[in-house]
Amino acid sequence: MKNKIQLSSCSQSAMHISVKEALQQYTDSLEHQGMNWMQWMAECEGARELFAQQINANVNEIAILSSVSHAASAIATSIKPNGRRNKVVITDFDFPTIGHVWRSAEDEFEISFLRQNESGFNTLKDYETALSDDLLLFSTSHVNYYNGYKQNLKEISSCVHKKGGYLFVDAYQSFGQTPIDVKDMEIDFLAAGMQKYGLGIPGIAFLYVNEKIANELTPKITGWFGQVNPFAFDVRGKEYADGARRFDSGTFAMINGYAAHAALKILNGLDMKLVEKHLEVLSDVAKQEIQKTGLESRSQFQLTEKGSTTAVFFTNASEVEQSLAKEGIILSARNDVIRIAPHYYNTEEDVKTAIQALAKQLK
Ligand SMILES: Cc1ncc(COP(=O)(O)O)c(C=O)c1O
Repeated sequence: MKNKIQLSSCSQSAMHISVKEALQQYTDSLEHQGMNWMQWMAECEGARELFAQQINANVNEIAILSSVSHAASAIATSIKPNGRRNKVVITDFDFPTIGHVWRSAEDEFEISFLRQNESGFNTLKDYETALSDDLLLFSTSHVNYYNGYKQNLKEISSCVHKKGGYLFVDAYQSFGQTPIDVKDMEIDFLAAGMQKYGLGIPGIAFLYVNEKIANELTPKITGWFGQVNPFAFDVRGKEYADGARRFDSGTFAMINGYAAHAALKILNGLDMKLVEKHLEVLSDVAKQEIQKTGLESRSQFQLTEKGSTTAVFFTNASEVEQSLAKEGIILSARNDVIRIAPHYYNTEEDVKTAIQALAKQLK
């Protein structure tokens, strides 16, 4: 985007030229070829493959869905209580959609919410104390959407597994800005979409299901793409595909697949450790700059416990977002905070300029 400072990756990252071209390629295929199923499918499968690589999974451990809500619903409707093990614990970190999904299944599971402390985080000790031996599944976010708090997934998965439960990770706010290795972190389920730090657009999301678990689950939200052979055209049949592919359902959102494939080529070409380092530097710049103003940060964490997002308190956050957009500074409001969310392409100067503009809004 020319002549603007885009710092809204917690909501929508800047559009890369190759994503724009990919969107154009899809519309060109409609206009000039009418139909090109082979290519459309190849783009979506290419995106699946690159997403798998990005999180160190096998391609058969990834389902292509439409949103993170869809991914959470896919698990909530396929997992079963196991004897007395029926407790599903959600954190207050979780994006509201996760609560809505699991509460819709409260006739089947005992659902409880784990409160976050006043500074907006939980410690491992909190989890060790709160999770009991009848835990079925623990859901939490890798990076918090509101304040950017980043959790240590390896420690959390070890704690959850000691209690005998599964770990579901909502990685929508971390995917694309920090390394994720589902094998090393021993994650059971992970969902992420492309719109935020993923450099893509909404309408497509991926669900990772560990291969050791996937075939034990029978999806209820399903369809022909989740079958062993979608092209068997056997209306009476029901034979789920192997692995996470059983969670695919209907025709993929093709244009979103094009965008996701292009975005993932860019992401996978970056060194995610360097991206994370760069964003830590920008977080530090944001912290120093905020201290020079009367702004109130809601992201007072150690840099290693923080994703890119720095949240600043404003009672009229939405108005402030609109006002700064008029100055060409794109930030993202949520509730009572404005989020400054740089990506690998942002500079220290971008962050300073945004914070100085925010400080003027206090007057
Ligand atoms: C952490 C997190 N999870 C889930 C969602 C919602 O995702 P979707 O709209 O794809 O269901 C958001 C949206 O902001 C989010 O930040």
